[in-house]
Amino acid sequence: MRKTSFAIIGAGKVGNIFAANLYQCGYKLVGVASRTPASAAALAEHFGVPWSVNPLDIVRKAEVVFITTSDRYIENVVRQIAFSDGWCKGQYVYHSSGALFTDVLIAAKEQGAHIGALHPLQSFAGTKGKKNYLSGVYFAVDGDTQAIELAKTMVRDMGGHSFFVPPDKRALYHAAACIASNYLVVLVHNAVNLFQKFGLSGEEATTALLPLLQGTLDNLANKGAEKALTGPIVRGDVHTVAAHLQALDLTDDDIEKLYRQMGLYTLRLVQQINSLEEPQIEILRKMLTDKNGGRYE
Ligand SMILES: NC(=O)c1ccc[n+]([C@@H]2O[C@H](COP(=O)([O-])OP(=O)(O)OC[C@H]3O[C@@H](n4cnc5c(N)ncnc54)[C@H](OP(=O)(O)O)[C@@H]3O)[C@@H](O)[C@H]2O)c1
Repeated sequence: MRKTSFAIIGAGKVGNIFAANLYQCGYKLVGVASRTPASAAALAEHFGVPWSVNPLDIVRKAEVVFITTSDRYIENVVRQIAFSDGWCKGQYVYHSSGALFTDVLIAAKEQGAHIGALHPLQSFAGTKGKKNYLSGVYFAVDGDTQAIELAKTMVRDMGGHSFFVPPDKRALYHAAACIASNYLVVLVHNAVNLFQKFGLSGEEATTALLPLLQGTLDNLANKGAEKALTGPIVRGDVHTVAAHLQALDLTDDDIEKLYRQMGLYTLRLVQQINSLEEPQIEILRKMLTDKNGGRYE
């Protein structure tokens, strides 16, 4: 099947990754637009294509346009182009936001374009231009019939997988992705801070924690969440949890609250998998819920 031409508006992390990966599988990058000349030029010059700070100079050249600006600018960019009758009939326009609906692209649809969303369920923190990066990644796709069909083809070509998220569940989907990715980073940041209390540097702490994290991810991949769960709560080691709470009592109040909250969620999972008797669960629940009344000697 013929590979379409495409343009990138918003030469940030996702713009760079989309450009590199689509180009690698035969799609033709025809131009880049971004807010600042430096970003636009850096990406465009890598592929020897024109760049501009005005999206209008670029969009008419492309069959497919990816708007990979920050979420809050997408609608404005689309409207700005529509204001100058910049969209073409039959063109494809996508955004890559996980939370937004396709209605932010409506001004392009009114000028005859197909509109869709193509959200990679992956975290990009400066993986500029990395090829093969989207292989194995899942993409949440949405849009009109033609936009969904082309999105699925592009995802398949990049070695990814697509799935549909209905518009009314998109915010929920994105919240789940944030829990899995962003909050994982925040949890590790917390653990690193605690390690620093017995003398490790931030870098040493992160290095020491990485094999544990990798092992946990491997367990998740091989066994699924229910069987990957280890630790004192699932084992019913009440004294160990009591010692944790005592140690955390001397640290930041928020970290202790977080430990208690996550512990209570862990208990829900433990209940689901029936790894503990109800009385043990009750003791743990009391300890985790009630800071003063739940002490365990
Ligand atoms: N990062 C992730 O892990 C990730 C994952 C999945 C989906 N997404 C989604 O992908 C999109 C882009 O995210 P990102 O992380 O790549 O953001 P980013 O690195 O901040 O890049 C956004 C780019 O948009 C450009 N921009 C902002 N306003 C613009 C405008 N009015 N006209 C043209 N360009 C403009 C900025 O340009 P300048 O550099 O020129 O100032 C910046 O380079 C978002 O919708 C986000 O939700 C991100």
